[in-house]
Amino acid sequence: MKKVPGGRRRWVALIVLAAAVVAWAVLSYGPVVAFHLLPPTLTGEADRLAALIGAEPGRTIAEIGAGDGAFSIAIARRLEPGGTLYSTELDPALLRRIQRRAERERAGNVIVVAAGEASTNLPEACCDAVFMRNVYHHIADTAAFNRSLRRAVKPGGLVAVIDFPPRSFAHLDRPPAGTEGERNGHGVSARTVAREMERAGFVAERIVEDWGGRTYLVLLRAPGGPAEESGHQPTERPAFALRACPSDWGTRS
Ligand SMILES: C[S@@+](CC[C@H](N)C(=O)[O-])C[C@H]1O[C@@H](n2cnc3c(N)ncnc32)[C@H](O)[C@@H]1O
Repeated sequence: MKKVPGGRRRWVALIVLAAAVVAWAVLSYGPVVAFHLLPPTLTGEADRLAALIGAEPGRTIAEIGAGDGAFSIAIARRLEPGGTLYSTELDPALLRRIQRRAERERAGNVIVVAAGEASTNLPEACCDAVFMRNVYHHIADTAAFNRSLRRAVKPGGLVAVIDFPPRSFAHLDRPPAGTEGERNGHGVSARTVAREMERAGFVAERIVEDWGGRTYLVLLRAPGGPAEESGHQPTERPAFALRACPSDWGTRS
């Protein structure tokens, strides 16, 4: 048998090891990265969210911390005719980007709003529903922010918070100042979101643990509204106590 020189054997072992590491990374993180990079319309996330928060013609919905605005516009389309989508951002460059995108994509029902750190800057009781994706864990003064959010939501309106729990190595990335008691690194648990928002007067209805890309969704409701005033709870969907649901919950009939 031909002898393989030691140096070459080491190279082969290194290449095999590197290939295994790359394969592990692609298999573990590929779907997560794809979920976050692909447009929400392509991953089905926009459909699931729209079903969950009732994004229908004529409704008024806000997205907080809209980033590049792709999700805002996907939801805005579903509110036509007659509905409005408020798209808020803290970052002035992103605000300009959302505005340009709305103009380019002719989404005339998108209103871009400059947010404050602890204030949504949305009109009082403007919204049937508000959603935010990977934003809540950035907010330092959650008590003030949640009170502001509560003022923006109509009685009986919904809030959907999509976020992720602190990940491994999260201890290397500190949470916003002032939140250390509740947080443990970069990210925030669904239970903490629910607890903090309940302090502002929302009622947590359900948690979708596997929303996609290692995120969860917490759905909360502002008290009041026609259902509560008449003592009637909608029956087509179960009135959950805080509990986990499968991620396709909103799309099932
Ligand atoms: C991780 S990015 C998520 C962007 C987008 N929601 C997405 O899912 O692609 C977080 C965004 O939240 C914005 N942000 C942070 N705090 C905010 C606040 N208090 N009000 C509005 N936007 C905020 C940041 O400027 C940033 O664009």
